[in-house]
Formats: sequence, C-alpha cells, structure tokens
Amino acid sequence: SVIDMSNDDVEKGTYAHFMLKEIHEQPSVVRRIVSNYFDNGKSRIDAKILNDIKSSDRIYILAAGTSMHAGLIGKNLFEKLAGIPVEVHIASEFAYQKPLLSKKPFFILVSQSGETADLRACLVNIKEMNYPILTVTNVPTSTLAREATYFLELYAGPEIAVASTKAYVAQVGVLALLAYELSSKDFDIRDELTKVALSIENFLSCQNILDVTRYLLTHRNCFFIGRGLDYYTGLEAALKLKEISYIQTEGFAAGELKHGTIALIEEGTPVIALISDPKISHNTRSNLNEVIARGARTIKIVTSEVAEPGDEVIVDSVHPLLTPMVMVVPTQLLSYYAALERSFDIDKPRNLAKSVTVE
Ligand code: G6P
Repeated sequence: SVIDMSNDDVEKGTYAHFMLKEIHEQPSVVRRIVSNYFDNGKSRIDAKILNDIKSSDRIYILAAGTSMHAGLIGKNLFEKLAGIPVEVHIASEFAYQKPLLSKKPFFILVSQSGETADLRACLVNIKEMNYPILTVTNVPTSTLAREATYFLELYAGPEIAVASTKAYVAQVGVLALLAYELSSKDFDIRDELTKVALSIENFLSCQNILDVTRYLLTHRNCFFIGRGLDYYTGLEAALKLKEISYIQTEGFAAGELKHGTIALIEEGTPVIALISDPKISHNTRSNLNEVIARGARTIKIVTSEVAEPGDEVIVDSVHPLLTPMVMVVPTQLLSYYAALERSFDIDKPRNLAKSVTVE
C-alpha cells in the first residue's frame, strides 16, 4: 500500500512551521482515530490481539524518545483500565540488558516511524523467543509494522517536524482504545476522546501561552514538575523544549525535586508545574512554594477542575486517564514559541533526525 501524502498533509499551508501545523491538527487526529477504530459502535481492533494480551501475564512496552513517554501513559492506562501489569523500557536498553521476563509476556513496540533501529534490535530478540509483538505505529508499511505479529495504526498523517507532537497524542489515544477494549468498558471511550478533541481545540483557539513563554527567554535551564501522569507529561514537555529551544530542561516528579535538583534553582529559574489531579494538586502546589522561596519563576499549567486564581494556563478537564492528551498541548506550544523567539530551525533542530535508523 501507499502512504497517503495528500497535499493537505505535506504542505505547511498557512502555518509558519510544520510543528505548529501538526500541533493544530491534533483535534482532527483524535477524531480520526475514533472514526477509524469504530464501525457502527463496534471496535475494529482485531480480537486476536485482545486474546493474546488477555492470555499474557504482563505487557512490556518498548520505545524511544517521545514514543517512550507515550508508553509511560500507556502503562497507566493498561494497569488502571485492564488490570494488567506493565513495564516500560527504553528500547536501546532492553535490547542488550533484558530484564527478567514474566512467564507470558506480551510486547508492544511504540514507534511513530516504525523504523527506529533500537526497536528493531528488540524485535529480533523477542522473535527469537517466540513471544507475540504488537507494533503501534504511524507507518503501516514500516519495518516494525511488517515484522511484528500485529500492528495498529496511529492515523496521525505524515509527521514532518522532527519534534513529535501529533504522533504522541495519537499514540496515547490508540493505547487508550486498546486498554479500553480489555476493560469492563464502564464509560464510552468515543465520547471521552471526542471531549479530548474539543478540549485541545478550545485551548488552541484561545492560546494564552505567549506571555509566559517570555519567562524562558533569559534562562539557560528550565524544569517541569508534576506528579503521577503529570510527571510523565513533564518528561515529554522537557524533551520537547530541549529538542527545539536548546534550553537545558528536565522533567521531575514534583516531590523528588527537593532531593537534590532544587540546588539548581536560582533567582528567576523557570519552573513549570503541571497540575491536573485534584487528589495531589495541593502537594505539587506546595512543591512550587518551595522553589518560589528559592527565587524560581513559576508557571502553572492546570486543568479547569483544579484551577485556582493566578494559574497561568488552563485546559478544559477531560477523563482523568486521558488528561495527558490535553495537558501536553500547552507544553508543545511553549516549546514552539521558545524556539521561535530564539530564531532556531524549529522543524529541523540541530543534531536530530526524524527517524534514527542506527543503533
Ligand atoms: C528520534 C526522534 C524523536 C523520536 C524518536 C523515536 O530520536 O528525533 O522525536 O521520539 O526518534 O522515534 P519513533 O519513530 O520510533 O517514534
């Protein structure tokens, strides 16, 4: 088959950069996933995949870079919705330092390109052991899709910018659908994903990120902090910001910052908190106070559910398990504008390749 590269997908149109275009495509990507994965309300995910996962005792998610961060969200989805334990591994580590595997492992390889060499090394390895492999990828003709037992498509459309945005959101969306199919289905995932699309759309149409981006301009480093799923989003946010703005950025579990890294906080150091979970929002807020007391300049990215006066960036709340799909969007725009203000090559950052086919 041929990859659909219609003009719509490969031209920037009115957008200054592919990255910005791809950020704005995310609501339609989420809707496309819903329409492509359901046929008259019935899931199109192959029952063989579901049966193989059900008969396994543990899922191993392997991936690199942004896709690995989507895998971390996937872990939470499978564990919470389906009650299946999950381990997430960096592909380049798993390939040569295999952990002690469970008796009946099921492998999920997450890869936008489907060509990442580190994952190919894992695949060869797992095939020798005869375990089932599912590749979740944007490119159905890719090596990792062809060589796996099964594949699921992301339907994100071609992603041109090196910094991955819409593929990440699509990866979380497809992993959510898969986890949902393995669950007792006590909510309607199509409705919830539609709300995700609406929340992203709403945020993008009234983007209030530009002002806070200025905080980042005069500093050489930056921190994202969060707890639970927001911690994982913070890891992805940090990767995105460092990739294209070259500001040294780290994502931290909010409670862990004080155990060492807080030493780096100086007058004006930007600390961006991601806060979406009402059960732990006060903990993260008190961690913010700790860094404020040491001179940090803070930005809060929050959901409407936990918003307080003074919070700088607010996204509409969605289903708690799908929240990372919307929380990541302000961080993508923040990275975009930080790179734009520094006049860097946003779509082709230095030293990076879209698809890394060497180990
Ligand atoms: C490269 C890209 C990253 C990407 C990673 C994994 O390093 O620059 O943006 O996250 O590869 O790529 P994949 O195609 O496997 O998702």
